[in-house]
Amino acid sequence: MAEQILILDFGSQYTQLIARRVRELNVYCEIHPYNHIPEILSNYKGVILSGSPCSVRDDRAPDVDLTIFKDIPVLGVCYGAQLIAHKNGGLVLPSQIREYGRALLTTVDHHNELLKEISIDSQVWMSHADTISSIPDEFEVIASTPSVKIAAFRLRGKKLFGIQFHPEVTHTTEGKNLLRNFVVTICGCAQDWTPDQFVETTVADLKQKLGNDKVVMALSGGVDSTVAAMLVHQAIGKNLYCIFVDNGLLRKDEFEQVLHSYKGMGLNIKGVDAKEEFYKALKNLSEPEAKRKAIGRTFIEIFDVEAHRIEDVKWLGQGTIYPDVIESVSVKGPSATIKSHHNVGGLPAKMKMKVVEPLNTLFKDEVRLVGKTLGIDPLILGRHPFPGPGLGIRILGEITPENVRILQEVDSIFISGLRKFGLYEKVWQAGAMLLPVYSVGVMGDERTYEKVAALRAVISVDGMTADWAHLPHDFLSEVSSDIINKVKGVNRVVYDISSKPPATIEWE
Ligand code: XMP
Repeated sequence: MAEQILILDFGSQYTQLIARRVRELNVYCEIHPYNHIPEILSNYKGVILSGSPCSVRDDRAPDVDLTIFKDIPVLGVCYGAQLIAHKNGGLVLPSQIREYGRALLTTVDHHNELLKEISIDSQVWMSHADTISSIPDEFEVIASTPSVKIAAFRLRGKKLFGIQFHPEVTHTTEGKNLLRNFVVTICGCAQDWTPDQFVETTVADLKQKLGNDKVVMALSGGVDSTVAAMLVHQAIGKNLYCIFVDNGLLRKDEFEQVLHSYKGMGLNIKGVDAKEEFYKALKNLSEPEAKRKAIGRTFIEIFDVEAHRIEDVKWLGQGTIYPDVIESVSVKGPSATIKSHHNVGGLPAKMKMKVVEPLNTLFKDEVRLVGKTLGIDPLILGRHPFPGPGLGIRILGEITPENVRILQEVDSIFISGLRKFGLYEKVWQAGAMLLPVYSVGVMGDERTYEKVAALRAVISVDGMTADWAHLPHDFLSEVSSDIINKVKGVNRVVYDISSKPPATIEWE
């Protein structure tokens, strides 16, 4: 078991960032809600208390009994620091002056291990409405800014620290050094959690857990399911049965290409052409949620039939990643359904199998690093996210094979154009939508009355928020004329300039 840091989440928007920064130091860490602390703490070498939108002065402020950590070092960040001060008799009051944004650490106690090699005048990021106005005698201030005297403090002689700024955001220029001082120097973590090590221990664990059992997995051609499958494959080889369903809503030629690359990777993969079943289930449906549900249901039915063809299969493999896990147990509770995502979510219940999820402790960028270690083709690892319901939620209104054909052509011109112009890697996700709108055009001497296609490309980190990509005009112009000239059925192209929120990335 890797050495671990426990991050207790009090609901801050930055909690995941703390975890990512710690992992960038090659130290494994886990996020747990403050009210679901693991019972056994002996695996943890340090604890970080996150920030929070709450105030410690609220009646129902999130709280934690700090004595349970005994001698494990603790670092409180923002709310975490205020909580430590408050619980030990310090005074936390509403800030009189603005404590939001950049500030400089004008006093730094360099004798303190937490602040080793943190420069005087180092820039930090503040974001709090409350401030610690006094700390008890046993505590001492170890860093200040001109307006925040108690920017950092510690309990004398103990490994208990609080900082009111956010070391995890990039605006705190030496934040990573501070976190390194905490996890490496103070907690003594060995920095040996690397993708290679992850692969080695995960494959060994999977071998032990799965033994000679058979596992079935649905692959999508995406990064997560591919990396998850390769890990399981390394552990149990041909006992892993992979299924790739053509739902008739994939990108142009995607089914053949992806199957080909899976075979090249040595996976035991079966391609299932289920286009007709999906089109049948989608007939006469145009309401977005009804379409998503029909696609999800049909997928489960087909996968279930295919999985039952494999004798004695005990496990269902899934490419669930860490943000999905955190989301489902977060302080705020599972987030409200805006769209019914994760169309394969109903699989485990339906199939009554044990579930194996080898990536459920990794963030997306870590999945890519693990994929690289496993030797997976960079073209697969660098692929944009693509929704499970595929083009089904990009064809507005009813889905027909003809609409799918039109959109596949449009999308293919757009995506290959992005690659040709060196823009594919610069955007987070891109795709085309087919609108149920006809407009008048002219081609040669003929009047046309055809459909409108919308192009969408976004810049994002995790898909939760996104900005529209400011693609060069000459690129847009070339792609637009290519589409209108080559794709029969489309005579107008528009570019989507909406950010998320308030729009979403997909149109349905
Ligand atoms: P939205 O449209 O909610 O999309 O801004 C955010 C990200 O999620 C993807 N997405 C889905 N992925 N099943 C999936 O596997 C779905 O039903 C689904 N809906 C949206 C979307 O492509 C984007 O990356």
